[in-house]
Amino acid sequence: MTAARITVNGKETPISPAASHTSALDFLRERGLTGAKEGCAEGECGACSVLVARPGVNKPTDWVAINACLVPAAALDGQEIVTSEGLATVGEPGTPRTLHPVQQEMAVRGGSQCGYCTPGFICSMAAEYYRPDRCAHAASTDSATSEGPIGDIDAEHGANGFDLHALSGNLCRCTGYRPIRDAAFAVGTPTDEDLLAQRREQSPPPPVATAYTRDDKAFLRPGTLADVLRLLRERPDAVVVAGSTDWGVEVNIRSRRADCVVAVDRLPELRELRVASDHVEIGAALTLTEIERRLDGQVPLLGELFPQFASRLIRNSATLGGNLGTGSPIGDSPPALLALDASVVLADADGEREVPLADYFTGYRQSVRRPGELIRAVRFPLPLSPVVGFHKIAKRRFDDISSVAVAFALDIEDGLVRKARIGLGGVAATPIRSLATEAALEGNPWAAETVEAAARVLRAEGTPMNDHRASALYRSAMLGQSLLKLYAQTTEGVSS
Ligand code: FES
Ligand code: FES
Repeated sequence: MTAARITVNGKETPISPAASHTSALDFLRERGLTGAKEGCAEGECGACSVLVARPGVNKPTDWVAINACLVPAAALDGQEIVTSEGLATVGEPGTPRTLHPVQQEMAVRGGSQCGYCTPGFICSMAAEYYRPDRCAHAASTDSATSEGPIGDIDAEHGANGFDLHALSGNLCRCTGYRPIRDAAFAVGTPTDEDLLAQRREQSPPPPVATAYTRDDKAFLRPGTLADVLRLLRERPDAVVVAGSTDWGVEVNIRSRRADCVVAVDRLPELRELRVASDHVEIGAALTLTEIERRLDGQVPLLGELFPQFASRLIRNSATLGGNLGTGSPIGDSPPALLALDASVVLADADGEREVPLADYFTGYRQSVRRPGELIRAVRFPLPLSPVVGFHKIAKRRFDDISSVAVAFALDIEDGLVRKARIGLGGVAATPIRSLATEAALEGNPWAAETVEAAARVLRAEGTPMNDHRASALYRSAMLGQSLLKLYAQTTEGVSS
């Protein structure tokens, strides 16, 4: 095992002497790369964004923007990152740096005032700039040039293929977003000489086994699933991380420290996605962005879920395994997975078992997962129910925590509801199936009378509570409204 190091802007940089919990953000800043900033330290502002080379969906490598405040530097051992400083090109001695095209557009269109958020915006924007299917779209657009097409298709998409959701995890307190949007919609396509565009054609750095210990605290990345399971048997106290989007908040905000953190995000066995004839299996360590792009709309309910799940920056690191592993009653994926009749594949050193997700949660942040067990995959049956909806009720449209989340998957044949699966979040100590409402729908006509009666049943499901996000009364009311909305969407073409 070699000394832990990260390639930062093309230069190998030892991680030592950073502590095992030191974030990539602090690691960079302590080495003078102060472009990335700390705004919130909990994944909500994007001031800390950097680019990392990851296995690509359409090319060998994708440049992916992540929150450097959440990921420990040790988790990037052997990996390759680029910061805002690395995007500009250094010319011959005595000549000025050439701004990267996204930096140039942000500069000329007034996308920066105090500049605190700007390096983060630049990195998120650069990730979208290099997204292969955006480039393909831009190249097929008449107005696309390397100087940049200008204009929009709709409020959230540029004529250059730029998806503004790429910036959904970046906050700016002073510029106002219009100049930033103008810059995003003005970027062109990378030129043939662009080194980061060329880099996408080669494989990303392979995962490396890491054993990084400082002050008796270890960050471990075993090389195989068998090694991880052996380790978890020996160290049931170990904290298991994939994208660290949850653990990073615990470390930064609650000052939690673990004697042993085990990373599983690069294990091949946890990174498979298979669509078989009778089921879909999704590896627990695939990021939500990878799942979204690989499924490409094949599972419409997940297609509705993903844009509402945190920000693109978070989805670039967060995993289904992590969302189920934390057992949060307001996690966004469990309601959708419950509606899909999903099960969880749990692995330990003795083998695997499959548990229906409906039986997985046992209490507030508790589950049937035993010490030493790891979530390997999530599975759900095919064919899919054709009538689906994912309704997240939150104070903001995107990048927020839900007050209530409701997912529907219905089979409706000849006007009758043959099968109903409804998953709920935010109305009990655990995510739950809405069994009484499912029974009120099944076998009955998909008609206003049935739906109104079932909505009354749905309002009474769970044990919603009052908290700073919503009152119990509001949560109950939203449950019923959610079913009425689904009915309106299916019968009156009401959009979400
Ligand atoms: Fe705000 Fe990282 S500092 S997301
Ligand atoms: Fe000041 Fe964005 S330019 S926070």
